[in-house]
Amino acid sequence: MRTALLFSALLSSFLAIAQQPPYLNILPKPEKITFKEGVCPIDRDRVVDASEPWFRDIKKILAEEIGASIDTSGLPSGKQLIIEFRPFDAETIEPPEAYWIEVNAEDIILAAGSAEGFYRGTRTLVQLLGDKPIGTPLPCMTIEDKPRFAWRGMHLDVCRHFFPVDFVKRYIDLLARYKMNTFHWHLTDDQGWRIEIKKHPALTDVGAWRKGSQVGPYSRREYDSIPYGGFYTQAEIKEVVRYAQERHITVVPEIEMPGHALAALAAYPHLGCTGGPYEVQKGWGVFDDVFCGGKDPTFLLLEDVLTEVMELFPGEYIHIGGDECPKERWKTCAHCQARMKTEGLKDEHELQSYFIQRIEKFVNAKGRKIIGWDEILEGGLAPNAAVMSWRGTEGGTTAAQQQHPVVMCPGSHCYFDHYQGDPAYEPLAIGGFTTVQKVYSYEPVPAALTAEQAKYILGAQGNIWTEYILSQEHVQYMALPRMIALAEVLWSPKEQRNEADFVRRLEGEFRTLSAKSISHSKSLYNVAFKLGSSKKRGQVNIDLVPPPVQGEVHYTTDNTEPMISSPLFNTPIEQRTSGTVRATLFRDGIKVGNATSRAFKFNIATGQAITVNPAPHERYNDGGKFALVDGITAGDKRVNHEWLGWRDERVTITVDLGTEQWLTRMELGSLMEPHSWIHAPWEVEVSISSDGTSFTPLDSPKRPADAKGRVQYRCSIPMMARFVRFVAKGVERIPEGNAGAGEVPWLFLDEITIE
Ligand code: ACM
Ligand code: ZN
Repeated sequence: MRTALLFSALLSSFLAIAQQPPYLNILPKPEKITFKEGVCPIDRDRVVDASEPWFRDIKKILAEEIGASIDTSGLPSGKQLIIEFRPFDAETIEPPEAYWIEVNAEDIILAAGSAEGFYRGTRTLVQLLGDKPIGTPLPCMTIEDKPRFAWRGMHLDVCRHFFPVDFVKRYIDLLARYKMNTFHWHLTDDQGWRIEIKKHPALTDVGAWRKGSQVGPYSRREYDSIPYGGFYTQAEIKEVVRYAQERHITVVPEIEMPGHALAALAAYPHLGCTGGPYEVQKGWGVFDDVFCGGKDPTFLLLEDVLTEVMELFPGEYIHIGGDECPKERWKTCAHCQARMKTEGLKDEHELQSYFIQRIEKFVNAKGRKIIGWDEILEGGLAPNAAVMSWRGTEGGTTAAQQQHPVVMCPGSHCYFDHYQGDPAYEPLAIGGFTTVQKVYSYEPVPAALTAEQAKYILGAQGNIWTEYILSQEHVQYMALPRMIALAEVLWSPKEQRNEADFVRRLEGEFRTLSAKSISHSKSLYNVAFKLGSSKKRGQVNIDLVPPPVQGEVHYTTDNTEPMISSPLFNTPIEQRTSGTVRATLFRDGIKVGNATSRAFKFNIATGQAITVNPAPHERYNDGGKFALVDGITAGDKRVNHEWLGWRDERVTITVDLGTEQWLTRMELGSLMEPHSWIHAPWEVEVSISSDGTSFTPLDSPKRPADAKGRVQYRCSIPMMARFVRFVAKGVERIPEGNAGAGEVPWLFLDEITIE
């Protein structure tokens, strides 16, 4: 018995195709494509017919997307192109999302073992048929395809900025297009509660609205006073869930606890340790006021919320947050301390663990599972919880070793709120530097895992936090093309990954996105700067690395925009003096993408030999140790290739100036950004030497009490020396009263200046 979904197409034109294997822009790349003799002509004038009820939605979507007209009354006479559904042979065991497509001269056959597989197959058909001009023939071929990972996700924060249902559907369309299957909807946070809860209406009556918003970079701490808010009614939530279901996408709702709870506390202040009053926050960050872990009403409210949430969202997992929960209030709260005593909890981390485990029991009793950010590992992981690894890969590695399911989303590769190009040309972002190429290079399975442990890595997801993302276009711009790169990492076989081939297909996709007026970044075309030591001391070697596309790089060294008449880059540039270098990719004489730039400020230390001990942490080591003497002074925008980061208490840096010289100023820069756990050293010891072995201490500048943003540690004692040593002495643990109190802080350093 065969069920058929039939499209018919009237033949209109028949074009010969090129001799070489035809180029197909399928994203993500299918597991296997085998080309055959011949071509299959296609046209837009199709008739869709299907009798099986579960094809109805797919048929409708496909008809809309490929632009076919729907006619269920039967097929017209004449020549037809038939797209036919064939269930897989029952004997063949295939993962649910696998599909198979055969393109023949007379017909196209799509086969799958499930509705899910069938739907994923239609995504390939849409890319093959839907975006092509009428009359474009397809090569005859067979496509055999299935995903590498089961969790292929994208996250969206609708709390810092709110996005209406219509846009959420457009976002889901993007996930669907690239065969993503999980939408993580971040619905509650300090700055807004965005989901209607019938039993507790104040959560949205009060919690969905704030009196203003933070504007500009975090360092300025400026706020407007424009009321801001919004929420989804349960009817709207159901509509989104249904829309996603039709596309075989699971929506994972996130209800944050015990931290990031100020919107809820503003509505129900008795659930905080101090009893409030609390306000829905205007500003971004991590706040000390969190749900009280000692009061039973906290759990009763959250259980009511989760009961309604589980009725709205049918998926296996409910995200309960768990990240960034300061323990300040719990330490001095009688209720929390009493709970710790009666439950035999030795510290506040164990109270957090108690909190999550109590919620887990409730969720498990309703037949569902919890997933939380990697902080839920601290104080003991709840027995059945899955972990989302965001602070790096350590949390995911540990959880997988403990045989818990893991979704990877380390900031280094999966935070799409980071800069994706030169900040000089990008809209304000939270920081970081995560290019599309970097995302494409991501390997979700940590190397430390055995093959058996690796099975616990469900997949990965891209996260879009919206502190600095106010518009729908901006969300698309941050998502694209990075989510396409991640989609390919997660869907396609690892051994097929090929950046140049991906970029070529992506260039085709850019045309489609432009045609659909979907905003996307062209930072792919940015020329990368690779700075290194030169053969000659005191110089910086600049290598300009173009993206793997056709084109040539032109550059300027006088801070002007490169033009086609500017020098062509072919050998590394020796930078000897201060100045701004800009580089742009040109193709056929036309500029593609933006320029990238570096502003050099030379001093005696620039381009000199340097030793650093210990080496920077792998997360913040993009520029290598040379970044400290490359003539580029990191700003407080915190772009990764400028700052180097450590989680060590003591970092020793020695510069060899080559010859003994008269020095009047020795300076090291650092960063004070406590809300991001970045603490500048409390002291930097400066010493000098003429032989590189015996050092004489000169001065130990301290961190100013009001340090904020970039901090300079300066020694201005004039001396003759060849070697200068800086010992940065960081704080061992984040002091009380700060975000992440008690944790190991980050120490960020950049640029040694010697005059
Ligand atoms: C997170 O980015 N706070 C999970
Ligand atoms: Zn409390």
